[in-house]
Amino acid sequence: MTDASAQSELAGIEVAPRHVAIIMDGNGRWASARHLPRALGHRMGVEAVRRTIKAAMELGLEYLTLYSFSSENWSRPSGEVSDLMKLMKRFIQRDCAELHQSGVRLIVIGERGNIEPDMLRMIEDTEKLTEANTKLNLVIAFNYGARQEIVAGAQRLALAAQNGKLDPNLITVENFSEALTTNGHPDPELLIRTSGEKRLSNFLLWQLAYAEFVFLDVNWPDFSKDHLTDAIAQYHMRDRRFGGLSKQSSAS
Ligand code: IPE
Ligand code: IPE
Ligand code: MG
Repeated sequence: MTDASAQSELAGIEVAPRHVAIIMDGNGRWASARHLPRALGHRMGVEAVRRTIKAAMELGLEYLTLYSFSSENWSRPSGEVSDLMKLMKRFIQRDCAELHQSGVRLIVIGERGNIEPDMLRMIEDTEKLTEANTKLNLVIAFNYGARQEIVAGAQRLALAAQNGKLDPNLITVENFSEALTTNGHPDPELLIRTSGEKRLSNFLLWQLAYAEFVFLDVNWPDFSKDHLTDAIAQYHMRDRRFGGLSKQSSAS
């Protein structure tokens, strides 16, 4: 959130979220409830991703960040991990070509060291291809863990300090933010998690410091534009104080 939009909110002016982040959870439970394999839940989850990207564009969001695979998801059975990798590859190859035509910029955040070389190439090529697009910044958190991201950021700053390029006393919230993989992205104003779980599961721990949280009981494959619109409506009803006073108190 910029200082200007924080000020507008404190003044009681309704500001639309620029950035919505989503923890897309509940694919497995969606499938189990229907006596279907978990893989099918993940496939239907990709359909929900397509609907959500379209809805985000229609609603005029600038940034949509989707948590697609966490650093900890490697601990799932290898068959499930390989299903998820195949779906990600297919999404980058097929969907992103189409999304490029609609003006979507793809940005992938997360650890890249242990991603298969052909997948990595695909990601890098698509990021390059779409880098000038401005309709929507689609950020996919893939092989992502917020603690790992924060540690990598701290290492980057420590190295700069060791090389004499940075005075440790001049490390600020701003330059720490710049050392993260989300450098340049506005912080999400709204976080949505589906499936009824109420936890962050190592997602954007730094960036969500002042986000509003909306937890929905729907499983991700059933997520629709209506859910996104309702979550944004809930966000608008919140009194965002940023450590200050509520709109009513500051007016009196
Ligand atoms: C979200 O659905 C997809 C990923 C985490 C990759 P889950 O697979 O976590 O579904 P549940 O939580 O088991 O229902
Ligand atoms: C979080 O969901 C990760 C993604 C949605 C990609 P998980 O299903 O992995 O989270 P936990 O294990 O319930 O905390
Ligand atoms: Mg889950």
